[in-house]
Amino acid sequence: MERTLSIIKPDGVRKNVIGEVIKRFEGAGIHIVAMKMLKLSKEDAKRFYAVHKDRPFYDSLTDFMSSGPIVVMVLEGNDVIKKNRELMGATNYKEAAAGTIRRDFATDIEQNVVHGSDGPDTAVVEIAFFFNQLEIYS
Ligand code: PPS
Repeated sequence: MERTLSIIKPDGVRKNVIGEVIKRFEGAGIHIVAMKMLKLSKEDAKRFYAVHKDRPFYDSLTDFMSSGPIVVMVLEGNDVIKKNRELMGATNYKEAAAGTIRRDFATDIEQNVVHGSDGPDTAVVEIAFFFNQLEIYS
């Protein structure tokens, strides 16, 4: 059994697709074992995306990620890191496969609806960024 962090980004909340995203996770046999809605400050977003601090889009991405509420979830299931990334689709929605979340709801490379951890080590760090052990059910 594996866990990963999922974020419905500010554009996903504004586009009113929280339920649609969750439906896709549940439809794929993924279990939500923690969930909350919150708004990141610019400083929070900079800490979360610190790994991208030297990339040209860092300032814009952290502005966007602190522009409104997000929904953060811990997903659990077999091979859930890979499954979640398949459901999300490619970072650039224009390259995302048909039927993926980003292909269906993203409007540009930045406003791409969802985030998902990219590997087991990242998942541990990202889950701990948002949740303590008492907030995760299983
Ligand atoms: S990935 O999946 O992490 O390998 O994707 P990557 O291309 O490295 O992108 C990392 C995050 O940065 C966002 N991104 C951008 N934001 C704004 N403008 C541009 N051009 C851009 N390119 C990438 C991308 O959505 C990733 O965000 P997260 O939240 O990690 O999905």
